[in-house]
Amino acid sequence: MSAPAAPLLEIVDLVRHFPVRNAFGRRVGWLRAVDGVSLAVQPGETLGLVGESGCGKSTLGKTVMGIYTPTAGDIRFAGREIGWLAKRERRAVAKDLQYVYQDPGASLDPRWKVVHLLHEPLKIHTALSRAEREREVLAILAAVGLPDAHLDLYPHELSGGQQRRVGLARILTLRPRLVILDEPTSGLDVSVQASVLKLFRGLQEAFALTYVFISHDLSVVRAICARIAVMYLGKIVELGPTVAVFERPRHPYTHSLLAALPRIGGRRVTQEFALEGEPPNPRDVPSGCRFRTRCPHVQARCAVEEPLLRPLDGRTVACHFA
Ligand SMILES: Nc1ncnc2c1ncn2[C@@H]1O[C@H](COP(=O)(O)OP(=O)(O)O)[C@@H](O)[C@H]1O
Ligand SMILES: [Mg+2]
Repeated sequence: MSAPAAPLLEIVDLVRHFPVRNAFGRRVGWLRAVDGVSLAVQPGETLGLVGESGCGKSTLGKTVMGIYTPTAGDIRFAGREIGWLAKRERRAVAKDLQYVYQDPGASLDPRWKVVHLLHEPLKIHTALSRAEREREVLAILAAVGLPDAHLDLYPHELSGGQQRRVGLARILTLRPRLVILDEPTSGLDVSVQASVLKLFRGLQEAFALTYVFISHDLSVVRAICARIAVMYLGKIVELGPTVAVFERPRHPYTHSLLAALPRIGGRRVTQEFALEGEPPNPRDVPSGCRFRTRCPHVQARCAVEEPLLRPLDGRTVACHFA
C-alpha cells in the first residue's frame, strides 16, 4: 500500500480575531472571524469552503495567504510553518500561494497593455530572458483561452470575462502551487460560470495547481470540489467528500444550507430545516455549540458543551446529536 501524499497545506487550530473598537479607538472586544480551524489540502485537489456570508471564509483564505497575521495556530505549506515567518522569509514563499479575488480583472492597471501586464510579474519574480518571457507569456495566454492579438489591447478594450482571464494569467505567470479562489464565479451568468469552471479545471491540470475554492454557492462547489468544508461563525462544522455531504448531510447546519438549494423536480424544502434569520454576530458567539440559536434540534447540552469535530459516516462533524 502506498503512503498517502503529504498535504500541501495544513492548517492547525487557526484563529484570526479582529479588535472591535469604540468611537474613541479603544478596544471593547474581539470579533472572532476565524475561531479555531484545522484542515489539510492534498496536492492537486480542490477543497471547497462554503458557508453564509460573514462566516469567515475570506478571512481564513487571507490568513493562509499572509494578508492577515494569525492570532493563533499554525499554517504549514509543503511541510514548512509559514504563519509566523518574518517578512523577508515570507516573501520567498509568497509566489507559491496566490489569492484570486472575485474579479481578478478589476485589479488590472488600466494604463498598461496586456503584454505589459503579463511581462511585469515575470520581470520582478524570475530571471528569464526577454525571449523566454515572451514564450512563457504566449503559453499562458493560450492556456487561459485568449488569442495573441489581445496582447496589444488595454484592459478597457476587453470584455469582463476576458479581463478575468488576463487577471488569472497574471497569477499563473508566477507558477503558484496553491491558488485560493474567493467567490470566483459570483456575478457571472450561469452559462459563463460553466465555462469559467471548465477553465479552472483545465488550468489545474496544466499547471499542477491545488485549489481552495471559496463560495457561498453550493451548486458551484458541488460541480468542482471533491471535498468540502462547511463553515459556521468561524468554525468548520462538517468536512468530508462532497458526494457524501450532499447526499447525506449530518450537521443540522449543512442540512439547512442544502435544503435551501433550488432543486429541479427534487425534494421540497421541509419546514424543519429552513434556516431562519441571520447568523449571530461573531463579536458575540453563543456558548457551547455556536449553531444552537438557529438549530431545529437544540437541546440543553448544546448551550454548555462545545461539540468537537469527530469522525462520523465517512466525514467529520461537530454536533452532539448528529
Ligand atoms: N479587516 C477586517 N476587520 C474587521 N473585521 C473584519 C475584517 N474582515 C472581515 N471582518 C469580519 O469578519 C467576519 C468574517 O468575514 P469574512 O471572512 O469576510 O466572511 P465571508 O468571506 O465568509 O463572507 C465578518 O463579521 C466580517 O465583518
Ligand atoms: Mg468573503
